[in-house]
Amino acid sequence: MEKTHADNNTASTEQYGASHESIQYHYDIGNEFLSLVQEDGRNYSCAMWKDGDTHETAQIRKLDYHVEQIRGTNAKRILDIGCGWGGLLHRLTSEHNVQKAVGLTLSKEQIKFIQQNYGNPKIDVYLENWQDYVPEERFDGIISLGAFEHFAKIEEDKVEAYQKFFEKCHSFLKPGGRLSLQTMGYGDVPRERKHKDLFIAKEVFPESDLPRLADICYASEMLFEVEYLRNDRLDYVKTMRAWFENLRRNRDKALKIVSQEVVERYERLYRTMSFSFDLGAFVLYRITFKRIDQNRIGDGHH
Ligand SMILES: C[S@@+](CC[C@H](N)C(=O)[O-])C[C@H]1O[C@@H](n2cnc3c(N)ncnc32)[C@H](O)[C@@H]1O
Repeated sequence: MEKTHADNNTASTEQYGASHESIQYHYDIGNEFLSLVQEDGRNYSCAMWKDGDTHETAQIRKLDYHVEQIRGTNAKRILDIGCGWGGLLHRLTSEHNVQKAVGLTLSKEQIKFIQQNYGNPKIDVYLENWQDYVPEERFDGIISLGAFEHFAKIEEDKVEAYQKFFEKCHSFLKPGGRLSLQTMGYGDVPRERKHKDLFIAKEVFPESDLPRLADICYASEMLFEVEYLRNDRLDYVKTMRAWFENLRRNRDKALKIVSQEVVERYERLYRTMSFSFDLGAFVLYRITFKRIDQNRIGDGHH
């Protein structure tokens, strides 16, 4: 497994979205703690539930869904933007016969975990922001799960930041390539609401904010066509409950690793988020985008 970019832990220029520091605050400090919350595959985004699923099988169903959306089985090269602890990279190479799975993350601990657990020449993982990433070769498909929420920190930046993301993905993909994106979003929350939920904004996802569907679609115009869209917000009610229950079950172990304040903060997070998804204030989008290869009306990005 290469890690050519991994030793460089400084973001280059001023960027949109969450910084290395805040991502590391969120994912690295709590790495051992988060393992008590996650299932064995260490996925940390919404699972896809069917009757009879355990949290483990629902997480695998989610991974396979996204691979299918981008026609990823037997592909040569797939990119995972915001690869977390590498569950998808591993699934792509071990079950879907992908020749090369490349992951980007801002968390050193996640890179270490992937190298230790899935070290394998078919997987490359880089400590790198997608804004800086320059691939050696284009990809057949891209998947990004639970990372888009981190890509813009303030309302005014959102459309521009998302546009940049879609431009990058367009340039990373071969003609005909697809991007399967999973992200939380604002649902039944007025756009003009000025104050964010301070608990979530400050304590849980510093320097991040949720997108709105209209902004995602607007930003992708002239670059991607939306091929398929689902809102599976009730899947997140179940996933948040699964994380909450895991934390409850492992509470004593958790208290040996972090303070009671941290345990309570996460209990509160999973409870609050579960209510928000149940009410429809938060939603969960799974969007399949197909690269627009030619701009038939003349002026655009291509
Ligand atoms: C909630 S985790 C999701 C991880 C994984 N996709 C999953 O479903 O388990 C968000 C991931 O996005 C990564 N991330 C956030 N902003 C990023 C950026 N600008 N460039 C690359 N990775 C980013 C984080 O480092 C982390 O790995």
